[in-house]
Amino acid sequence: LVLTVQRGVTSSLRSVGLQVWKAAMLLTDFVLHKSFTSSEFDGVTAMEIGAGTGLVGLAHARVARRIFITDRGTDILDNCLANVRLNSSMLKFDEAKVLVRELDWKLSWPPPVGTRDASDPSSIYLWSASEIKEAEQATLLFAADVIYSDDLTDLFFDTVRQLMSSGAKKVMYLTLEKRYNFSLDELGVVANGYKHFRSFFTVLDGMWRPGQCYTETRPRGGADRPCDGSSVHQGI
Ligand SMILES: C[S@@+](CC[C@H](N)C(=O)[O-])C[C@H]1O[C@@H](n2cnc3c(N)ncnc32)[C@H](O)[C@@H]1O
Repeated sequence: LVLTVQRGVTSSLRSVGLQVWKAAMLLTDFVLHKSFTSSEFDGVTAMEIGAGTGLVGLAHARVARRIFITDRGTDILDNCLANVRLNSSMLKFDEAKVLVRELDWKLSWPPPVGTRDASDPSSIYLWSASEIKEAEQATLLFAADVIYSDDLTDLFFDTVRQLMSSGAKKVMYLTLEKRYNFSLDELGVVANGYKHFRSFFTVLDGMWRPGQCYTETRPRGGADRPCDGSSVHQGI
C-alpha cells in the first residue's frame, strides 16, 4: 500500500501542520495494521483532530464510512485536501467520504455552521448542520502530535471533552512524542509538556503495565462527571 502526502520538511510554529510528525507515522501504522488484520475499523465514522497533512485520516479512508479530517487555517486545510485528491484513486476510496473541515480548538464544539460562498475559497471547509450531526456520531477519534504547548493541550482537551459528550460513545487513539528539553528553571532535562498532558488522566487501576505501549486511560472528569464509557488509547 502506498500513501502519498504533500508536506514540508521544515515549518514555522504557525504552520507545523505542513510537516508529517513521528507520532503521525506511528498512528498511521497502527490504523493500517488494524484495517489489514481486523474488521474493527470497517465502516466506522471517525474524525482526525489536528490532522496536519491528514496522513492518519487517509489511512482510515480506505475502510471508513466517513472520515472528517480537521485542522485550522486555510494553508493547512488546502494541503490536506490536496493529499485527499492525491490518494483517492490510488487507495480506491470515494473522495466524497473524506471531508476536510475546519475545527479550531479555540472555538467550542459544535463549530459554526457555514454556507459555501463562491467568492471565498476557504468556505469549503465550513460545516453544514448535517455534517456536525454526523461527526457527533463518530465512534473513533484520532490525534497525532497535538501535545506540545500547555495552552494548546488545554484547548485540545476542551474540544475532546465536548466531542465525547455529544452523540455516540467514542474511543480516541492519541500518539505523541515525549519531548525533552533543558529547563533553566529546573536546571535539568525535563519533558514539561508531557507532565501537563499526564495531569489530564487517571490511569485505570490494573490497566497499566511498565513498558506497555498502549495504555487505556480516561480523561480527568472527577466523580461529578463520570466517564461515559468513552476512552483514550495513547501510544508513546
Ligand atoms: C505538530 S502538528 C501535528 C500534525 C499531524 N497530526 C502530524 O502528527 O503530522 C500539530 C497540529 O495541530 C494543529 N493545531 C494547532 N493549534 C490548533 C488549534 N487551535 N485548532 C486546531 N488545530 C490546531 C496544527 O495546525 C497542526 O496541524
